[in-house]
Amino acid sequence: MAQDKQSRNKVTGARLIGVGSALPQRAFSNDELAAEFNLDTSDEWIRTRTGIQQRHIVSGDETAVSLAHKAAQRALDHAGKAASDVDAVIVATSTPDQVFPSVAVRVQAALGMERGFGFDVSAACSGFVYALTIGDSMIRSGQAKRIMVIGVEVFSRLLDWEDRSTCVLFGDGAGAVLLEAGADEGEGILSTHLHADGRLGDLLYVDGAVGCTSGKVALKMHGREVFRHAVVNLAAAVDEALETNGLKGTDIQWMVPHQANLRIIDGMAKKLSLPSDRVVVTVDRHANTSAASIPLALDEAVRDGRIKQGDLVLMEALGGGLTWGSALIRM
Ligand code: UT7
Repeated sequence: MAQDKQSRNKVTGARLIGVGSALPQRAFSNDELAAEFNLDTSDEWIRTRTGIQQRHIVSGDETAVSLAHKAAQRALDHAGKAASDVDAVIVATSTPDQVFPSVAVRVQAALGMERGFGFDVSAACSGFVYALTIGDSMIRSGQAKRIMVIGVEVFSRLLDWEDRSTCVLFGDGAGAVLLEAGADEGEGILSTHLHADGRLGDLLYVDGAVGCTSGKVALKMHGREVFRHAVVNLAAAVDEALETNGLKGTDIQWMVPHQANLRIIDGMAKKLSLPSDRVVVTVDRHANTSAASIPLALDEAVRDGRIKQGDLVLMEALGGGLTWGSALIRM
């Protein structure tokens, strides 16, 4: 799904005016995780196959809502806005604390918003790109002036801690961006492209649902197959983004990819001829935080001064569904 470029330019676009993120307090290195869950794995295997060195995992009273709330509050503070300035909250997550109410309305209440609307989006690891697309479309259609778009996951609730082929790969966290109407042409969210192929649903799935108080479910992944689809489909989604905007790979200043595997990220950077210092990598410290990984990485690179206003940023993600997509943003 992609909006026609001509019709998009007639309406007011969305720009990013604030970023924020939150990680659980507890971090586990590969060795600590192996010891904690008695896993037959090694730091060397995990690092060389994925680039992961550690991940954060919720403990105590940390939940999807508490992490999302923290990230959203930080995005508000970064933008210099109050909760009353926000018209809507859209949350990408596969791990809501409850079936309903949504994480979005829980965050709405926690922020102190007394009006507006909110809902969750389920598109697994592509969730943030999906939610960003919806937020952008709602701003362009005049439904809202400011939208908080959040990606949050507590994948530690979905993992089978006896399955070393999946449990070492994921982590928990949240990231948020505040969108605001009023981007001029060539500014803000330039284009987004979404895709899904439900015929590939069994390559990466979780049976049933899980909340913060109950449920025994387990994530299953055919890693090698998903890897193969990621390489092909992400390359196509990136080409679409470049073509739509009349750009070349070398025009991109920053790639902020979904953080599933350093080998996939390096492959995409190579395809775009982007040097590694133009790619934001957090998979080493966060592991795969699914819908949270892109806004977590974006927040880090904006706050440490790497990504600056006016920079051209490419995002891409692929996950369960399979779902995938890309977004191109002039910050
Ligand atoms: O975010 C959603 C999208 N997800 C992705 O994009 C993930 C895509 N897939 C991947 O990143 C990779 O396929 C994995 C990291 C999941 C796996 O890497 P791989 O190089 O494809 O390994 P493999 O699954 O082919 O397994 C290779 C070997 C197997 O042993 P044998 O059969 O060759 O003897 C596994 O049993 O590695 C073994 N293995 C492990 N060994 C030590 C699997 N997990 C582990 C482990 N520690 N944790």
